[in-house]
Formats: sequence, C-alpha cells, structure tokens
Amino acid sequence: MPDAPFRYKKLGYVAINVADLERTVTFYRDVVGMEVSEYRKGEVAYMRCGDDYHSLAFFPAAQPGVKRMAFELESDEDLEAARRHLKSLGVSYTAVPAAEARDLRHRESIRFNIPGCGMPMELFSGAERQVKPFAPTRANLLRLGHIVIKVKEFDTTFAWLTDKFGFRVSDHIRDDKHENEIAFMRCYPNPYHHSLGIARSDANQLHHYALMVRDLDDIGRGNNRLPREGAPVVFGPGRHVASGSVFLYFLDPDGITLEYTHGMEEFSERTPRAARMLEPKLEVVDMWLGTPRAGFGRVGYAEGANH
Ligand SMILES: [Fe+2]
Repeated sequence: MPDAPFRYKKLGYVAINVADLERTVTFYRDVVGMEVSEYRKGEVAYMRCGDDYHSLAFFPAAQPGVKRMAFELESDEDLEAARRHLKSLGVSYTAVPAAEARDLRHRESIRFNIPGCGMPMELFSGAERQVKPFAPTRANLLRLGHIVIKVKEFDTTFAWLTDKFGFRVSDHIRDDKHENEIAFMRCYPNPYHHSLGIARSDANQLHHYALMVRDLDDIGRGNNRLPREGAPVVFGPGRHVASGSVFLYFLDPDGITLEYTHGMEEFSERTPRAARMLEPKLEVVDMWLGTPRAGFGRVGYAEGANH
C-alpha cells in the first residue's frame, strides 16, 4: 500500500508568476471573482476564494507560470513527520524563514523539489483562517480545487508521489503506447478525486489550476460572461468522466489556463473505490464531446523545476 507517515489536509495554495501584477489583481478580483487579502504593489498579491487567508499568491516575474504549489498538512506533528520522511528518502528541503511563513500566515513550512520533475513543492501547517466569510461576487467560488502539471519524467514523478509521498491515484488515463497519459491523485486523506494531476509531456510546466464553484449556473454564466470580459474560454463547458466534474477552462491575462469546476467526486477514507485505467478518448476527456481550443494548458513556465 503506498503511504506516507503524515496526513494531508488539502491543496493549500498555488503561487503564480505573472507579468503585470496590477493587471492580474484586477482580473482575478473583477472577472474571476476572488477577493484581495493583501496586495503590496510590485511585490505580492494574496487572494482568496474561501476562508483561507489566501488560495492564490501572485508574484511579478519575467516568465508567467507556476512558482510553487503548497499543500497543507493536518497538524504540526504531520509536518514534523514529513520532515523526517523526506530526510529518510534523501530529499533535501529548506525551512521557510519565519518572517516569510508569517507573511504567508502559516505557522511552519518547508520547501523541496519533487524528485523527477523538480517542481517546487511546499508543505505547511498551522494556517490562519479569515474571520470574515468570503462573499462571492462574480461567481460562487467555494475553494481552490486542484492543480495539474505537465512533467517530462512521468514515471519517476508518478512513482515518487504515489509510492513515497502519500498521493493516491483516483483515475489514470493512458493509451497503449503511454504517449498520452495523465494521473489524477488525491492528497490522502483529503476526499476530493484530485488535488494534483500530472500529465506526460516534453516539458515540466503548469497545465492549469482550478477553482471549485457552487452552482452549475456559475459554469453556464461564466461561459457567456468570461469571453465578454476578456477571458477567452478554451475548453468547455463539458464533463470529465474521471472526476464527474463539469469544467470550464479559460485564460487569464498572461494566457495561463484556469478552470471553474463543479461537482467533483469524493472518496471515502476507509473504503475508497479502486482507481480506474481509462482510455484517452474524446468521450472520456469530455462526455459532452467538446475539444480544447488554442491556448489550452500552454502558458506555465515552472520556476525552479528541471528544464
Ligand atoms: Fe482541472
């Protein structure tokens, strides 16, 4: 049984590099419907879509894409167990300096590079929550849902995450030749079908990240509203067989793909169903038989990953 001696709570936040921080803040607030938790011009913007202090953190950078993904663990003890575990696996990590952890509203956090792809990952515990409930504006956002990354060393990355680091496969899509391949994984014991997906690719980079919405109407309304507001829809609305969720993928001002997702399958901790191996057929990727348009999952340089 693949396992790790610590428990995940969830995907905590994603740090994103952007070309123009001001433009990004305006877009994610006025078009996506997130709320600014803190914005220091030219430095950082923390934005939320739920009770967490932030779910996305934006940083100005030369190349737009992903800076790191951060997973929240259930407790400080779990973080200590993760530190010991990484040490025993021979994976070096760094402690996030106390001042930076405070800025992120975390008690403690560490960072390391995922073996194989080298994608930066952060683990943290003791996150501060917002006192005031999130008030939806443009869409009924519930929470940060998941991130999907493209990886060159699929087999190494996949094996490490699932055999050594506690991720459980929920579904796997693969053709006979293993040319098209994507694995959807949940961060055990978090119930959501996937918090992290990895796709076989010729580059290590971001594919997309997703915000969960409350109503199917948020998807339908977004499909009409987003293109009018400068956010091209590049795939959907449609429904994935793997998670059962209804999706709408669109582009932010840097061309990064983000997703509104509705209705994801949840897994029991004690009696989860077995992972399925699915074929990468049109009707599997989208039960409604749509196809991705130009720009889908294209922009997403991964800072600090193996290139
Ligand atoms: Fe997705």
